[in-house]
Amino acid sequence: MIKFEASKVYHFVTKEEVTALYPSATTALNSLKSHTCKGNEFLGWLDLPTEISNEQIEDIKKTAADLRKSAEVVVIIGIGGSYLGARAVIEALEGSFHNFEPAVKSGMKILYAGHNIGEDYYHELREYLSDKRFGICVISKSGTTTEPAIAFRLLKELLESQVGKEGASKRIVAITDESKGALRTLATKEGYKTYVIPDNVGGRFSVLTPVGLLPIALAGFDIKDFVAGAAQMREACLNEKSNIALEYATTRSALYKKGFKVELLANFNPKLHYITEWWKQLFGESEGKEHTGIFPSGVDFTTDLHSMGQYIQQGQRMLMETVVTVETQKYQVEIPTDKDNLDTLNFLAGKRVDEVNKMAELGTRIAHTDGGVPNMQVTIPELSEATIGQLMYFFELACGISGCMLGVNPFDQPGVEEYKNNMFALLDKPGYEEASRAIKAKL
Ligand code: PA5
Repeated sequence: MIKFEASKVYHFVTKEEVTALYPSATTALNSLKSHTCKGNEFLGWLDLPTEISNEQIEDIKKTAADLRKSAEVVVIIGIGGSYLGARAVIEALEGSFHNFEPAVKSGMKILYAGHNIGEDYYHELREYLSDKRFGICVISKSGTTTEPAIAFRLLKELLESQVGKEGASKRIVAITDESKGALRTLATKEGYKTYVIPDNVGGRFSVLTPVGLLPIALAGFDIKDFVAGAAQMREACLNEKSNIALEYATTRSALYKKGFKVELLANFNPKLHYITEWWKQLFGESEGKEHTGIFPSGVDFTTDLHSMGQYIQQGQRMLMETVVTVETQKYQVEIPTDKDNLDTLNFLAGKRVDEVNKMAELGTRIAHTDGGVPNMQVTIPELSEATIGQLMYFFELACGISGCMLGVNPFDQPGVEEYKNNMFALLDKPGYEEASRAIKAKL
């Protein structure tokens, strides 16, 4: 099981101050469990790990296997919660050079689209796909989000030009609302294979639905183990006395009250970059409202120690840091001896690269604590489907508890609409005439 420890925060907050928040954290947890919290119509994620049936898992695996037979590349189209969870899991488990030859574990390449509106990105993507056998997995809960809708138009047109409308419909899977939205209408009309995103699961909490499971299965990973890992964490955190999600939520909340307004999620493993991206969205969209909430940010170490390290060590003191440690590496690489020793590194000869990395990690945690940055640690025994499942459920539950402790609705995201309204007004979308006049007057 993954572990949480917070001994390096007690220079900044007392044990009593943390303990004093346990009743409020427990009330928050109970309000999630009893479905009495704000946003309680979106609590489906709490029980996903135990509700997914073997039949559902087998059906997703079969769809993935079918698509792998007909396509060498699959483009996952989605944004925010409809993309980050899947990418986080795939990149944590995949070989670092999976998008070069050879392709991913399952033998296919996974690419992403619909998470930006970069014209060159789409030109280059279409160029790349122009001589490939490709398929599309398009994911949008609302079925109306602009970024994935544009990407889908562009790639659907290309695919249909290559294999015809009927051929394309066999290589497209849509994951969307059961009945609402443009994507559902289109999928029904064109006869795509579809999966439903349950009404009671919001985007950023949807990695344990087909939103995450189909792309993960496409990449060749064991979704049964992934779900089982999440179920283990659910059992440990909902039914046992020692609840690490509650401890984490309580500790970061105590630090926030002491003025630590920004939390850095730090890793010492490049495979965890997208776990951090997923975590940023999870906590940012859940807590950041009503002018409150910890600002979630992320760093990849040791890379960012050479760019952000200076600020973290000596800049404004408002940062807390949570390090995600991977205890064991999959492979062993020893540093060789060099007879000339011009780089003076022979003192490292014979040591594993991970031994050096672990000392960099420990040295960093001590330095940051000494420099005024309280430090928490989440330890994963190894990178596997099961441990990533545990980690994601741990963060989801901690996020739900944290949001309820703040008194906000952790499961909505009203602020996200503002930019969309302005964009539609500026683009003269029908129905936005008044907003269009108003915004153009400001230019
Ligand atoms: O967490 C959320 O709800 C959002 O990040 C959404 O997932 C994101 O905006 C994409 O929305 P949709 O799936 O409706 O296209």
